[in-house]
Amino acid sequence: MSNLKIFSCRGNLPLAEKIAKHLGVKLGKLEIKNFSDGEIWVKFLDNIRGSDVYIIQPTNPPAENLMELLIATDAAKRASANKVNLVIPYFGYARQDRKDQPRVSITAKLVANLFTHSGADRVITMDLHAPQIQGFFDIPFDHIYSSAVIINYFRKKNIPNLVIVSPDVGGIKMARAYATRLNCDICLIDKRRPKANEVEVMNIIGDVKNKNILIVDDIIDTARTFTAAVKMLKANGAKDVYGACTHPILSGNAVERIEKSEIKKLIVTDSIPLQKISNKVEIVTINKILAEAIQRTFENKSVSTLFDINKS
Ligand code: R5P
Repeated sequence: MSNLKIFSCRGNLPLAEKIAKHLGVKLGKLEIKNFSDGEIWVKFLDNIRGSDVYIIQPTNPPAENLMELLIATDAAKRASANKVNLVIPYFGYARQDRKDQPRVSITAKLVANLFTHSGADRVITMDLHAPQIQGFFDIPFDHIYSSAVIINYFRKKNIPNLVIVSPDVGGIKMARAYATRLNCDICLIDKRRPKANEVEVMNIIGDVKNKNILIVDDIIDTARTFTAAVKMLKANGAKDVYGACTHPILSGNAVERIEKSEIKKLIVTDSIPLQKISNKVEIVTINKILAEAIQRTFENKSVSTLFDINKS
């Protein structure tokens, strides 16, 4: 019988510690160092021969996070782990998931190839930018959702006249799942992107006048999409505007943009550790969901029945 061993790279140690605590285990010993030029060196200090190894690491920038995970996977495979399972709370490089113009890369597929070739046996990740990225992998892939945690938060708030808003067409499935579970209506914002990280021309499809709003999104990066949506909703007569986002990348001046906006509260998860916090941002932890997913995978129990957004 194989045994369960959980390790964390350096990308989100606080979350990894919470996951391990929830499972009642200690994180395994993984030594990670940098050469003077920055190259990464990884060594498992525990014997992992024959073990089912779970390595926790989000792959948000810098690319060192991704590289560290690849090196740890290779090290685990070469140390004769039984199975190497990657637990990736945030799957980076997912936004480029097709050739939307000539001569560009499909980075989501590239990263999938890198994980597979480095020796991963399984990937567990949360709120992928596009669920079809699962198809880029030929190894078992568990896609889980943070919605249970965020929905609980808003159920407790019991906000009257709440309408769920998707800030773009791509987010409509996620918004519908929230609307179903919170038993409220849904609206859509029609957004165009002239270039990456720029947002333009927005129309609201649906009625938001005198309604309280919850904007749901998988990623907030520059916060341009999000703050433009808040502005548009307010201009169309919305009352309080809340936000929920799984992966708070919050690059550049995103935090300042959020602070200047008329958002009442933005709820984010700890899939990515936040460097800069605003009073308008509240963090909820996804430790229990990921811990449960690890436990269930290890015991060969169903993960999808627990987390499938379509079933609850
Ligand atoms: C778009 O498809 C995503 O769901 C997010 O809305 C987008 O990536 C957010 O980017 P930014 O914060 O840079 O506008």
